[in-house]
Amino acid sequence: MTDKKYKEISVGEFTKAAEVYETDKGGVYKMCKKDYPDVLAELEKEPFTDLLDCGCGPAPMLTLLHEKYPEKHYTGIDLTPKMIEVAKGKNMEGVELVVGDCENLPFAPESFDVVICCESFHHYPNVQDFFDSVYRVLRPGGRLILRDMTMDNGAVRWFCNHVEIPIFNLFGKGDVRIYGKEDVNRLCNRAGLVMESFERRGFCRLHSVARKPVKGRQKLNIELGDVQETALIPLAIKANESKRANHRIYDAKAIEIIDSLKIDTEKYDRFMSHEGVVARTILFDNEMKKALKKYPNAIVVNIGCGFDDRFSRVDNGQVLWYNVDLPDSIAIRRKCFEERPREFLIEGDLLSENWTNGIPNDRVTIVIAEGLFMYFTGEQVKQILTRISGHFHKGYLLAELMHPFAAKNTEKHDTVKNTNAVFQWGIEDGHELEELCDDFQLLRETSFFEEMKKYTLAGKIGNVFFKKFNDRLAVYRFWE
Ligand SMILES: C[S@@+](CC[C@H](N)C(=O)[O-])C[C@H]1O[C@@H](n2cnc3c(N)ncnc32)[C@H](O)[C@@H]1O
Repeated sequence: MTDKKYKEISVGEFTKAAEVYETDKGGVYKMCKKDYPDVLAELEKEPFTDLLDCGCGPAPMLTLLHEKYPEKHYTGIDLTPKMIEVAKGKNMEGVELVVGDCENLPFAPESFDVVICCESFHHYPNVQDFFDSVYRVLRPGGRLILRDMTMDNGAVRWFCNHVEIPIFNLFGKGDVRIYGKEDVNRLCNRAGLVMESFERRGFCRLHSVARKPVKGRQKLNIELGDVQETALIPLAIKANESKRANHRIYDAKAIEIIDSLKIDTEKYDRFMSHEGVVARTILFDNEMKKALKKYPNAIVVNIGCGFDDRFSRVDNGQVLWYNVDLPDSIAIRRKCFEERPREFLIEGDLLSENWTNGIPNDRVTIVIAEGLFMYFTGEQVKQILTRISGHFHKGYLLAELMHPFAAKNTEKHDTVKNTNAVFQWGIEDGHELEELCDDFQLLRETSFFEEMKKYTLAGKIGNVFFKKFNDRLAVYRFWE
């Protein structure tokens, strides 16, 4: 159904409902009365002067507020002209009532210190536009109080969104979607709002408060090269995974960077990549912890580090950690990560002769190459390996390897296809890397499916049928 059609159905439904909405003949809308005391209590937690009610209907909430606090300034907006007509019929002094679309609020920036939206935003086909618009009209520090329907259970919500709502729309209901906590959080984040609370209250009610930050969003200009941009894929996935209630990995820095850079994660976070990155993070973290147990004062060199924050997850208080990447990535990293003792940033081109300069080589070194080698040619991988064993003398390499079939099909990859990067190198067997540089000896190789099988059916099936086609973590030893 088109956006226009949704809105037409909604206006049709509410034109019929407008006159009876607040009476005993209000049908399902009588239920909305249960929302008003909670919205009022939420509002009363902080002082306010200018309030906007989005999708105000015949203005039941404004009536209540106007009676209790007549000195304040109220505005109501609704798409259904009949609703505004009924609301205007109440002749409330100091209450402005406007026919308009909440997806494009027709008010000056920073006009309100609080916006309420009660049982309305599930009717908006472009709901992100609504959140963006609220961000614009709110003053810094201002609140958005949301009240709507929700379901805790993802499966029930899926059923409502994909079966129940489409059926009801055949009968002219005009609902679009029911949202859960992750949805509201994502919508707020993208708009620049901070979701401060989300509760599921009685009668399947969503009760949420979001705020426009006082300092405003610090916008960083991110311009990254093609391969460097791929670092946004694991970053976006780690941020989104960390925001889940039952997250399998947690990366507070990823959330902070994604939110502060206001990065739309949609094209970087798709199901298979998401599961792969979660699995890879767990496998690399575990391998790293094992290595640091054996060599607690090792040097770790994370080549092509992107925005990875493994240091904070595995630091043992002794390790010296070097993150190496191209200057544009490191420049952004410097802005996002505060300096930490024993962690260093190296601007280096892995294809140059000098990227290892300045990294000590007097201890066992653990080199991490995660999501990296597939973007180089075999010849270039050889060059990097030779540089590693030539400078560091003894240590281990934890490398992500890709199968040649995947390497030939960048355009089929669910997220990398959305960037300009292209895969170049893959090997079927980890021993093939030994042929590029005979200083390296393969110790073990683990398919990401070994981890993914623990979480999803796709992981279980993949582990049985497609294990060798997935990326894997290979551990090599190089020892002079
Ligand atoms: C269930 S009523 C809620 C009315 C009132 N907020 C309450 O809590 O009783 C939903 C309202 O949202 C309005 N609405 C739907 N889509 C809208 C849009 N895009 N912009 C503004 N209002 C919209 C409808 O016209 C309707 O009046």
